[in-house]
Amino acid sequence: MNKKVAVYRKEHFKAAHRLFNPAWDEATNTKVFGKCALPNYHGHNYELDVKLTGEPNPETGYVMDLKELSDLIKKEIIDRFDHRNLNLDTVEFRNLNPTAENIAVVIYTLLRPHIPEQLELQVRLYETPRNFVEYPA
Ligand code: NI
Repeated sequence: MNKKVAVYRKEHFKAAHRLFNPAWDEATNTKVFGKCALPNYHGHNYELDVKLTGEPNPETGYVMDLKELSDLIKKEIIDRFDHRNLNLDTVEFRNLNPTAENIAVVIYTLLRPHIPEQLELQVRLYETPRNFVEYPA
């Protein structure tokens, strides 16, 4: 019998970004990315849901201690990205367009090595209350 349980931790950060492809001219960037390509950046209130799936530990009853997960997300993600300009202030997005899709993949990649390997990890990132992405899909 499958005893897997999903547990979630919600966190939040604010960050600025600009979407553009340096290989394209200004007109093409504006056509594809609209206002998101404006050169002086804009901000988002990102909501992050981190989902772990696995069997509860028989001794603790926890899939993972959510305080530990919260501390991990703060250390690896919030401290790195909160109140930053993603394009200018972070190595992760120096050469990577900071779309919600790419941010979710980066967050997954930063967290994965610190999560017990028997647990599945999924990241959901809200760029706005109506626009959100999940990785892995
Ligand atoms: Ni944006």
